[in-house]
Amino acid sequence: MDQALIERLESSFNLVAPRGEELITRFYALLFSRNPEVRPMFPEQMDDQKGKLLASLVLVVQNLRTPEKLMEPLHAMGARHAGYGTLEAHYPVVRDTLVEVMAEIAGEAWSDQLEADWKGAVDLVSSIMLEGTAQARPADANGVYM
Ligand code: HEM
Repeated sequence: MDQALIERLESSFNLVAPRGEELITRFYALLFSRNPEVRPMFPEQMDDQKGKLLASLVLVVQNLRTPEKLMEPLHAMGARHAGYGTLEAHYPVVRDTLVEVMAEIAGEAWSDQLEADWKGAVDLVSSIMLEGTAQARPADANGVYM
């Protein structure tokens, strides 16, 4: 990741982070209304989950300049997701929902550039998580779990 990209990701995240709770609440509301089939995978009570997702985003943004620190936690997170029934095909859905909500919250400050930056960043995080998933479930690395 080049310096300019890192700076755009950091400053746009700082812009939406003060409304982090609203961001995550809106994210799950949209995710579940458009993809009701994933709702049963999550706990009924979503309060803890919301905090954890926000914390994982903060962790990623805080370590864009030290990406080696992200490998282990993201691999471990991907390995845990194998147990949640998460499929490879769910990742772009989560990415697009998250980026759409970030754009909504950022308002005028959002741009096509940030849209592309964030989609690329979430794709990178997803691919590292999926490496962890494949290591945890080598027999199912083709993305068919259950
Ligand atoms: C950028 C991608 C993603 C990130 C950063 C992320 C982050 C997280 C985090 C931090 C947790 C808390 C528990 C843990 O750390 O293991 C979690 C739980 C969960 N995630 Fe993800 N996730 C991502 C993608 C997905 C996708 C694509 C799905 C599929 C629908 C998914 C489904 C779940 C479920 C079902 C749980 C809750 C499990 C439980 O508490 O029983 N996640 N996620």
